[in-house]
Amino acid sequence: MKALVLSGGLGTRLRPLTHSMPKQLVPVGNKPVLVRGLEKIREAGIREVGMIVGDTGPEIERVIGDGSRFGLRIHYIPQEAPMGLAHCVMIARDFLGQDDFLMYLGDNVLSDGLGGTLAEFHEHRPAVQLLVKQVTNPSDFGIAELTDTGEVYRLEEKPRRPRGDLAVMGVYLFTPAVHEAVRSIKPSARNEWEITDAIRLMMEQGQPVRARVYTGFWKDTGQLDELLECNRMVLRTECPSAVLGSVDAASTLIGPVLVEPGASVVRSHVVGPTIIGPDAVVCDSEVGPYTALGSGTCLRNSGIENSIVLEGASLSDVTGVEGSLIGREAQISRATPGRRFILGDHATVQVGA
Ligand code: G1P
Repeated sequence: MKALVLSGGLGTRLRPLTHSMPKQLVPVGNKPVLVRGLEKIREAGIREVGMIVGDTGPEIERVIGDGSRFGLRIHYIPQEAPMGLAHCVMIARDFLGQDDFLMYLGDNVLSDGLGGTLAEFHEHRPAVQLLVKQVTNPSDFGIAELTDTGEVYRLEEKPRRPRGDLAVMGVYLFTPAVHEAVRSIKPSARNEWEITDAIRLMMEQGQPVRARVYTGFWKDTGQLDELLECNRMVLRTECPSAVLGSVDAASTLIGPVLVEPGASVVRSHVVGPTIIGPDAVVCDSEVGPYTALGSGTCLRNSGIENSIVLEGASLSDVTGVEGSLIGREAQISRATPGRRFILGDHATVQVGA
């Protein structure tokens, strides 16, 4: 069993951050989304990974490397442009050979492991096994309809009038039968080779397609609200109470707060779950809940909650920051008088009263 991890795409909905960093490397709970996916793949016992990368390939390769750090062997497979999930399977043909494989979308975050779906795949040996989850916005996903015993009898990509609410997640298990199917489909209206079309073709040919209903947490992190929701889930489930840096006597920590090595909390109030990253400085500030401060961040006389702050960013004399994603080395401070902005392309700012 191999894995094919899809880490291309433009990340347009997370601009301007994605002008300088691939969306798969944005951290939740201070760990890149893609690293979380690779850990799940390794936990499931897979070692060989083909990583599909686009323009941001060099940065992904710089951070992830050859995979040995995760107990994986990673082979990078460049994709010229984001031309669809089935296109990724096509260009990975040589890497995949005659092996079964797990296809994983690199911007997905899951709470539970992949062992259950792998075990079911090995037990039933369908041509394709999907993982599906109930959603409230079925028109945004591939939607599967299944029998009580888990056979998929209908599959529709982003249906305008959905008949069901079980969304196809970014985790697919394939036998090599998929290779012929991806070669036989045509690009869709959005000009992409859709994996849904290939799976539907296999169903029409009478090949068994199964789906397992996933009960854990799942989000694709392509948008800010989803990213923040993942950050909350990860902090809620993973954040320990531990002070590895320093907290002065005038500060209070409430609930699970991780103060990483080298970080210092001075005259501040921190509510968990919250992570204060390595070498961060929090001074005369209020932080949390649900906040991940990256390494070397600096807060002075500020307040922030439900947010992700990337390494080296700073806030000074700014309170009431919430639901925010703040990029590397960004600086937020108070202007007197009025408001001043130096904003990168595609930046979003929402100013309260
Ligand atoms: C893709 C698939 C869709 C699936 C979704 C999961 O959509 O085409 O069937 O439900 O991933 O994240 P895309 O994100 O390419 O629009």
